[in-house]
Amino acid sequence: MKNIVILISGRGSNMEALIAARDAGNLPVNIAAVISNRPDAQGLETAARAGIVTHYVDHKGFAGRAAFDAALAECIDCFQPDLVVLAGFMRILTDSFVSHYAGRLMNIHPSLLPSFPGLHTHQRALEEGVRIHGCTVHFVTPTLDHGPVIIQAAVPVLDGDDENALAARILVQEHKIYPQAVRWFAEDKLQLDGGRVRLAAELSDQAALVSPQLA
Ligand code: GRF
Repeated sequence: MKNIVILISGRGSNMEALIAARDAGNLPVNIAAVISNRPDAQGLETAARAGIVTHYVDHKGFAGRAAFDAALAECIDCFQPDLVVLAGFMRILTDSFVSHYAGRLMNIHPSLLPSFPGLHTHQRALEEGVRIHGCTVHFVTPTLDHGPVIIQAAVPVLDGDDENALAARILVQEHKIYPQAVRWFAEDKLQLDGGRVRLAAELSDQAALVSPQLA
């Protein structure tokens, strides 16, 4: 079974979705550790309650990104992960960190990339008046919120939406697509082909999810 390490900075609801999928028998991985850059991240308590090893590497204790990333990688590598899963990990990572985990570093982002990389995605989607918004799981490259896309889910933007309503509609989809992407990785059903992800043939129609309102 593959080893994964999950990195969080806050609430950890995507991490919880991964733990729940594992507990339900839908995610054949060993969650070796949950690591945060913030000692007070709410998700650390949730993970500990689930019996998972937790650690923090406080970014405030380091002079710069390179020193922090080196300490973080040292902590992660103690667990010999096959995959490192960024689940609301709110730090920009150095190129050398990303290269070290090339092909085994995944992120979830609350937009349909390449639209709206960066922060405040829901507010920006509302300001632009887009009618379809969503979330993306992708392999990480040195460019922020960029990299080969594994799976995306789309939801409608409704006229009455505010940022919270839109975020909540998308979070439901995040909690579906992240366990799905990690499961495909665990089952060796993902292949990187240049800048694209190739899925096992039987999955080719499962990597684009649309919410019931759009179907
Ligand atoms: C999610 O919206 C995720 O897409 C983004 O940060 C948020 C983290 O939420 N990268 P949680 O900590 O998983 O609840």
